[in-house]
Amino acid sequence: MNTHKNSVEDAVRHAVEAPGGRVCVIGAGWSGLASCQVLHERGVAFDCYEAGSRVGGNWRYLNDNGMSSGYRSLHINTSRKLSEYRSYPMPKDYPHYPDHYLIARYLDDYVDHFGFRETIAFRTEVTHVVPAEGGGWNVTARHRDTGTETTRHYGSVLVANGHHWDPRMPEPAFPGADGFTGEQIHSHHYRVPDSYAGKRVLVVGFGNSASDIAVETSLVSERTFLSLRRGGYVFPKFMFGKAGDDLINPFITRVMPREAQRRVMALLLRMTVGKVTDYGLPEPEHKLFNAHPTVSEALLPRLGHGGIGVKPNISHFDGDTVHFVDGSSEVIDAVIHCTGYKVGFPFLDPSVIAPKDNDVSLFHRVVDPRNPGLYFIGLFQPLGATTVLAEAQSHWVADLIEGKAALPSEERMNREITRYKEGLAKRYVNSTRHTMQVDHYPYLAELGKARRVGARLARKRGAGSPAPVPGVTTAPRPEEVSIRIDASPEQVWDLISDVTRMGEWSPECRRCYWRGGTRGVGARFIGINRRRWVVWVTSNRVEESERGRSFAFRTTTNGVRWGYRLVPDGEGTLVTEVWDVSGQSRGQRKRTESFANMLLDGHESHLRELRDGMRQTLQRVKAAAEKSAAGGGERGAASTGGPTARREPVPVDTAA
Ligand SMILES: Cc1cc2nc3c(=O)[nH]c(=O)nc-3n(C[C@H](O)[C@H](O)[C@H](O)COP(=O)(O)OP(=O)(O)OC[C@H]3O[C@@H](n4cnc5c(N)ncnc54)[C@H](O)[C@@H]3O)c2cc1C
Ligand SMILES: NC(=O)c1ccc[n+]([C@@H]2O[C@H](COP(=O)([O-])OP(=O)(O)OC[C@H]3O[C@@H](n4cnc5c(N)ncnc54)[C@H](OP(=O)(O)O)[C@@H]3O)[C@@H](O)[C@H]2O)c1
Repeated sequence: MNTHKNSVEDAVRHAVEAPGGRVCVIGAGWSGLASCQVLHERGVAFDCYEAGSRVGGNWRYLNDNGMSSGYRSLHINTSRKLSEYRSYPMPKDYPHYPDHYLIARYLDDYVDHFGFRETIAFRTEVTHVVPAEGGGWNVTARHRDTGTETTRHYGSVLVANGHHWDPRMPEPAFPGADGFTGEQIHSHHYRVPDSYAGKRVLVVGFGNSASDIAVETSLVSERTFLSLRRGGYVFPKFMFGKAGDDLINPFITRVMPREAQRRVMALLLRMTVGKVTDYGLPEPEHKLFNAHPTVSEALLPRLGHGGIGVKPNISHFDGDTVHFVDGSSEVIDAVIHCTGYKVGFPFLDPSVIAPKDNDVSLFHRVVDPRNPGLYFIGLFQPLGATTVLAEAQSHWVADLIEGKAALPSEERMNREITRYKEGLAKRYVNSTRHTMQVDHYPYLAELGKARRVGARLARKRGAGSPAPVPGVTTAPRPEEVSIRIDASPEQVWDLISDVTRMGEWSPECRRCYWRGGTRGVGARFIGINRRRWVVWVTSNRVEESERGRSFAFRTTTNGVRWGYRLVPDGEGTLVTEVWDVSGQSRGQRKRTESFANMLLDGHESHLRELRDGMRQTLQRVKAAAEKSAAGGGERGAASTGGPTARREPVPVDTAA
């Protein structure tokens, strides 16, 4: 009986090793998961290590990784629409600002939807990442339960270990803090307000943790004070019945200068909540958008209700009393330091990278110019949402890993880093929390540009000069993207036909809209995508060789030829998407290249859609095989050809 020897999930995740070697992802929080999804979608072989037993990082309340800073009442403060992965929308019935339970569930669904859970080694903490002789990285990971250590070589390492888990207590400590008789914790350890009932609480800081926690404790405490060393703005979560950040969109950020955006937002704030000084907060000395925003629907009303007392910075502690720089003092039972976090990579030797006061030097906040193959995902502080930006970073990194994009010289990268840091210094309040700021839409555009420029560079280098960065090889056209499917070419052929015929490419593939289908082999079909490209199949071929049957179908899109090759390779079928430039004139090649670049996203979606469709069909095939096996049937999945009747592919050459 000819059945699939591996599970269906195994079959679809038989990814191909990137030119520089296997890829390692550290961390399965919002950022690491985005990387896993992108690599998985592209069929790049990777392993993800996660210290906890579940995905979600900060968004897994009471995470057994021991690193989550989430408290029980935590909700995202970036809206659902802004925070959902582009490849996977949040459920429509989610509220504008879901809580951590819903976010954790969304992340679980995300992993299961794309089917890459098996690639994550849970309870496995990366302890060392060391540059390997000859290139790449040796990654040592320790299983937290068994203590087993393994070391494996990787071509690239994507560090997504988060940067909100190592508490930064006030530095230097306030005088007398050691002798304070009350309790002191950092917001990282705060979970619920219950233990503050009836107490006099001092919350230090004016970020989002301070604002959320002061509001909560103020509802149960005898008195809550908020100590802030500088003023700031408070953005409500809703404006005019809409999630506040839904008012900002890529169009506005592109066409409107920042100063104009600032003025409009200042006006809107004034119209909706008034001035912060109306609520007893100090006048900010900086302009709007020159500090990381404090977003809260409840802080200003609590201040307005007198539930929270506002204090300036602490001057010193004295026994049970806290003194402030304005000369006032309060007897305090508990201090909650909401004073931010330290960036750190305990598994990397300081000679590799050593962030001092959260300062890291990364090209476009991702690439370490001194350490080829080492990438950082989610290591930014966005005026926007982490997910989408981490997803965009991952696409760029995947381009680099696959050789579809290349990096400029170290000198150029360093120049970009210097420019970025100068920009930060000019715009932002000097603080350890403003060392990695990015603006949501402009940063997305920046990453898009980095990809395009990188792709041009890769092509240029592919045409002549060698790849300058070890571990990153460039791929000349024709571009090929391969995935391996544990099924015969005939089956895969059927699956592709099924997928296209049933239009399964269309619902999620935003760039393409397919009409018609390829069900009848060799049939012509026309599809028109959003950019009105006309697509039709020009040929389908079957070739017999010693290894078995291989198939290829070629299509032409406005004169640009591309298609798939399905070749048996011993383990299954290698499905290769090909941009065929052979036999094309220089002009045609140019068109192929620009078309391929333009459709880069759509191209990736194709592959994802294709793989998703195949996964579903393979599941059906497997179920049918199991059913037939259980019923004593003689024919297995491969021989039954799945739920649809087997068709012999007919070799046809259909003129377009
Ligand atoms: C209280 C709070 C609220 C926030 N709210 C928002 C918000 O509303 N919107 C927003 O965009 N951002 C928000 N942030 C920023 C926050 O950093 C991101 O939401 C998000 O958690 C970042 O995801 P991440 O994957 O980069 O990091 P994390 O969520 O921290 O995930 C890192 C993962 O890496 C794993 N890991 C770490 N070290 C290792 C190792 N050595 N080996 C193996 N695994 C390891 C951890 O176990 C963890 O699962 C918030 C932050 C905090 C602290
Ligand atoms: N979803 C949510 O609702 C939510 C909730 C909490 C946190 N978050 C996110 O989590 C991240 C961390 O936020 P956070 O509030 O914990 O940290 P943060 O943004 O770094 O803010 C730290 C605050 O502490 C102050 N501070 C630092 N050192 C101090 C010192 N020695 N003395 C007095 N004040 C000091 C800082 O003031 P300066 O500005 O002067 O340095 C700042 O006001 C942010 O990305 C935030 O958006 C989100």
